[in-house]
Amino acid sequence: TDVFDYQNGELFAEQCAVSDLADRYGSPLYIYSRKAFSEHYLEYANAFKNEDALICYAVKANSNIAVLNVLAKLGAGFDIVSVGELERVLKAGGDPSKIVFSGVAKTADEMRRALAVGVHCFNVESESELERLNAVAEEMGVKAPLSLRVNPDVDAQTHPYISTGLKENKFGVDIDTAKQVYAKAKGMQGIEIKGVDCHIGSQLTQLEPFMDALDRVLVLVDELKEQAIELEHIDLGGGLGVTYDDEVPPTPQEFADAVLPKLAGRNLKLVLEPGRSIAANAGIFVTQVEFLKSNGDKHFAIIDGGMNDLIRPSLYSAWQRIVEVQPREKTPKQNYDVVGPVCETGDFLGKDRELAILPGDLLAVKSAGAYGFVMASNYNTRNKPAEVMVDGDQSHLIRRRETISDQLMLEALIQD
Ligand code: LLP
Repeated sequence: TDVFDYQNGELFAEQCAVSDLADRYGSPLYIYSRKAFSEHYLEYANAFKNEDALICYAVKANSNIAVLNVLAKLGAGFDIVSVGELERVLKAGGDPSKIVFSGVAKTADEMRRALAVGVHCFNVESESELERLNAVAEEMGVKAPLSLRVNPDVDAQTHPYISTGLKENKFGVDIDTAKQVYAKAKGMQGIEIKGVDCHIGSQLTQLEPFMDALDRVLVLVDELKEQAIELEHIDLGGGLGVTYDDEVPPTPQEFADAVLPKLAGRNLKLVLEPGRSIAANAGIFVTQVEFLKSNGDKHFAIIDGGMNDLIRPSLYSAWQRIVEVQPREKTPKQNYDVVGPVCETGDFLGKDRELAILPGDLLAVKSAGAYGFVMASNYNTRNKPAEVMVDGDQSHLIRRRETISDQLMLEALIQD
């Protein structure tokens, strides 16, 4: 069930009218649902409840500390890709021993901080990164828990920008050379081998690519065993898709039903790193119509939110549903390109949308909880929008709207 649905003819977020939230907190505005975040996480937790599994929410999808705190309270682990995300998880009360640290270029400082707080594992993506991790751990007199990210060379059949498991991508170690890298790691003072991981892409709507990747990684696990390298866990990354339009992605339960039989009797703990499937449909982006404009046959709805607030449509040609917050019955529907105020032709949130709107009306872009605010920028010196979390009939401002002085604060004139 969608927590962002109509009640008495207007859009609600749980039990809060979206129009009230926009009055109170302004526009444009991100609105998240605590209930949806919780339910989406618990679908994973329940699907794997009888297993030794660790669900590490991918912080990059939505890293607001209130979001992380809601998930931490439910027992979630976290997948991070920077020391900044690490500090967010700690501030939100996340358990460091449930953190996996991914990313292709972790700095020595980032490694030091993560070792000091005791993360569960480093997902290392190259031999050079392995050497750096070993050096940092040796210097601290500790052993760094290691998983090697392998590239299983499978086609995730998703958008090329978010497909990561092919040889041509920058991610991970080629699965055929992984054995040598593990052998090298085994001889290192500062390294303790823990597991293996892969992440083949995002917004996957089928199980097959996951299963192909899993099969290939399990072959590697067996080969390593022959070399007396026993792994404790296998991390299958994130990537389960969501419904933006009419996609029907596998549920966490279907994912579990497919994966678990393959792991039976193997004594391998499972780690997952879901981001989008927890966050996307737990949030909306609310924006106000400023002007309606027609150039001949073409109609534009010019809104107060733009590509700097929500870049997915511009960057990936991603389609996200756009709906009226307070639908009008008497206004005729018209076909609009929904465009922002930024000085770029690519500044649109949707094209060819049938909407019945007048200036001043509010629109909601659905499925905006993942890779929305986190990818926002200050392009055109636009302030980043506020973020609100609703919880039943209560709403909480979880990030105040940025101000121009916030933006200028970091800059300085040169002294003549
Ligand atoms: N683990 C690793 C190592 C990742 O690189 C990612 C996402 C995830 C987990 C989480 O994947 P998810 O469950 O969210 O699919 N900005 C793009 C998506 C980029 C995904 C990057 N990596 C978008 O808006 O579509």
